[in-house]
Amino acid sequence: MLAANWKMNLNLHEASELFDGFLETLPAQESNRYVIFAPYVFLPQLSLYNSSIELGAQNFYPAEKGAYTGEISISQLKELHVKAVLIGHSERRIHFSESNELIKQKVDCALAHEVKVVFCCGESLEIRDSNEHLHFINEQLKDSLFHVSKENILNCSIAYEPIWAIGTGRTASCEQIEEMHSSIRSSIANQYDQTTAQSVAILYGGSCNSKNAKDIFSCPNVDGGLIGGASLTTEEFSLIAHQLN
Ligand code: PGA
Repeated sequence: MLAANWKMNLNLHEASELFDGFLETLPAQESNRYVIFAPYVFLPQLSLYNSSIELGAQNFYPAEKGAYTGEISISQLKELHVKAVLIGHSERRIHFSESNELIKQKVDCALAHEVKVVFCCGESLEIRDSNEHLHFINEQLKDSLFHVSKENILNCSIAYEPIWAIGTGRTASCEQIEEMHSSIRSSIANQYDQTTAQSVAILYGGSCNSKNAKDIFSCPNVDGGLIGGASLTTEEFSLIAHQLN
């Protein structure tokens, strides 16, 4: 699975061109799942393409409707053929003060509307340096994700994104990634069961690019990537896609 997180980048023309580029160059293997998390305002245009690339939204508010000025509901996104949502990204936790409780509500709301979830978790450098990273990520999962049913966890993917690696050009080493991903896999197995743990995709995100993707994707517990900066050009993103196992 490969997901692009365009964040607050591009204009409409650039977004359409990039989407066209992806359609032309991404390897069309049935086993590969591609999701593009585009800014809201590009979704109407991108939803006109009837493609195998899934459309995703970077955010939404977990209420059905009502007096929430400036917010977008999951039903509104579904009208635009949005199939997946990003929840718990560190930029939302940090810049928009999203709490574990709000993140939990978002998970429930998306799943209740049959929209797939990409649940992001990640630790700060301070937490890693104090060697608390495995425990911290396990708590993030327990606080906001592991309350869902076994049936529903299969509609979720988990993206491990160390905060210190996002947009910094500093990637986690393969040892660090594998240590965390296998710990996440064990946590899912403890909470649910081994078969379920094998079925949940665990993605890595944080300065992943065409040069390091091969090594990252070859870690046994890495099932794909969530790509920010390197998803903003066709060439770079498709080079990454060609390195998926
Ligand atoms: P990056 O962002 O690839 O630019 O580090 C990843 C993300 O924030 O999802």
